[in-house]
Amino acid sequence: MIVDHAIISCEPANNFPAIQTFYASVGYFGLIAPSSVVIAARDGDSIVGAARIASENDILVLRGMMIAPSHQRRGLGTRMLWELDKHIGCSECFCLPHGWLQNFYRQIGFTTIAEDISPPHLRERLKEGRIKYPRLVIMRRARSGSIEL
Ligand SMILES: CC(C)(COP(=O)(O)OP(=O)(O)OC[C@H]1O[C@@H](n2cnc3c(N)ncnc32)[C@H](O)[C@@H]1OP(=O)(O)O)[C@@H](O)C(=O)NCCC(=O)NCCS
Repeated sequence: MIVDHAIISCEPANNFPAIQTFYASVGYFGLIAPSSVVIAARDGDSIVGAARIASENDILVLRGMMIAPSHQRRGLGTRMLWELDKHIGCSECFCLPHGWLQNFYRQIGFTTIAEDISPPHLRERLKEGRIKYPRLVIMRRARSGSIEL
């Protein structure tokens, strides 16, 4: 069943602690930087999904895409992706997902790229992350709408 009643919103910084608590409840402990754009999904009063766009070394990185187990595979993550899409806009953006989620991120135009053309700090994060999650890949959504002179 599609979760179409959940409300998706862009969160003000004073809600970041509640998002961080949701993250911990699903076993994710990535810290939300104050400058991040944070998108959350609520079912009633409960936060049931969150993701953030972090700005790292002038590069946008989509991180911490988490849907509560009770709400997974019902279209909510896809709805959140389309909200994230608006905030990414025309900018280049990267993410480091599990290999089995490439089709999920392809929905908004991410494509898998070779590590050697990845930003150095993401290459390093990929290397560290693969110790625990060997199937991590790096994906990029290219900048769009720019005019080459
Ligand atoms: C991955 C996640 C964010 C996807 O959100 P979701 O709401 O469950 O996904 P959707 O229902 O929108 O999925 C849309 C499509 O994406 C793909 N997809 C989603 N989750 C997938 C999975 N675990 N494995 C393979 N494909 C998946 C499928 O093609 C799916 O369509 P289908 O259900 O008709 O087969 C969510 O399941 C989640 O939080 N998982 C645990 C944490 C995690 O792995 N986060 C991502 C870190 S990179």
